[in-house]
Amino acid sequence: MVQVQAFLNGEYMPLEECHISPLDRGFIFGDGIYELLPVYKNKPFYLQQHLSRLERSIGEIRINNPYTKSEWEALVETLIQQSSDDNLAIYIQVTRGIAPRDHAFPKDAAASVFAMANPLAIVPQEQLQKGVALITAKDERWQRCDIKVISLLANILAIQDAVQASAVEAIMVRNGFALEGAASNLFVVRDGEVFTHPKDNLILPGITRDFVLELLSELNIPYTEQLIPKEWLYSADEIWITSSTKEVLAATKIDQQVVGNGAPGEVWEKTHALYQQRKMQAPF
Ligand code: PDD
Repeated sequence: MVQVQAFLNGEYMPLEECHISPLDRGFIFGDGIYELLPVYKNKPFYLQQHLSRLERSIGEIRINNPYTKSEWEALVETLIQQSSDDNLAIYIQVTRGIAPRDHAFPKDAAASVFAMANPLAIVPQEQLQKGVALITAKDERWQRCDIKVISLLANILAIQDAVQASAVEAIMVRNGFALEGAASNLFVVRDGEVFTHPKDNLILPGITRDFVLELLSELNIPYTEQLIPKEWLYSADEIWITSSTKEVLAATKIDQQVVGNGAPGEVWEKTHALYQQRKMQAPF
């Protein structure tokens, strides 16, 4: 078994040696935020964007950021150096720290920082070739989906519904609009044009989403960031989901209905091919 390298409150150690108090507010309240970034051939993908989003999440929930930008960079670099795999998914979690259970912020608790570097799971070839199945689900999350919080209960329940319907992801629908997946962003293709929800408080501003939009510009494929009516999902030519772990993945079924002609579409094929070419050259 591969040893997973981890970091807990200033110290590097194997994952199984990490121990934390049950009074950590992450455990007791889900009071924390996280970040997840892929590493390709030992190079973190869009590190600056991931660290900016991490710092923003920390600020939005009013935790005192325990580290400077260069300390966060050093943490990521050290985990990469210590890991035997070249392709990693680095998970970073920051909570409000350890304190007697009380809803109000503790006065003097120091933030807890945990990170681990798991081998990056490759998207199965079959999913790439055939596309995946999705379901839609009522978005029962809170109103600040732009913050990458660790309290993910509504996302977990929606993904579990997807799994039980033999699908891989649930598309969150609020007020008749399809926003994003429970753990991914959403793209819909109609008549050669690509649509995705604008960056607002109802979706996570995905780093992969931004990267895909850059690729679309490079490919001269038109795109619009706008609200996506739920009904569009059933008449779309193509549907894709994007995330740091799924990259850009085509969906060929939604709520048991066939998407487009039932195979990953040609706009996806072009975008995915360029994605594979560019991901190693992305800034870090
Ligand atoms: N999830 N939307 C949600 C709700 C997400 O949880 C994620 C990522 C994304 C895509 O963001 P990015 O492209 O920056 O990975 C969108 C990660 C992978 C997770 O929770 O494991």
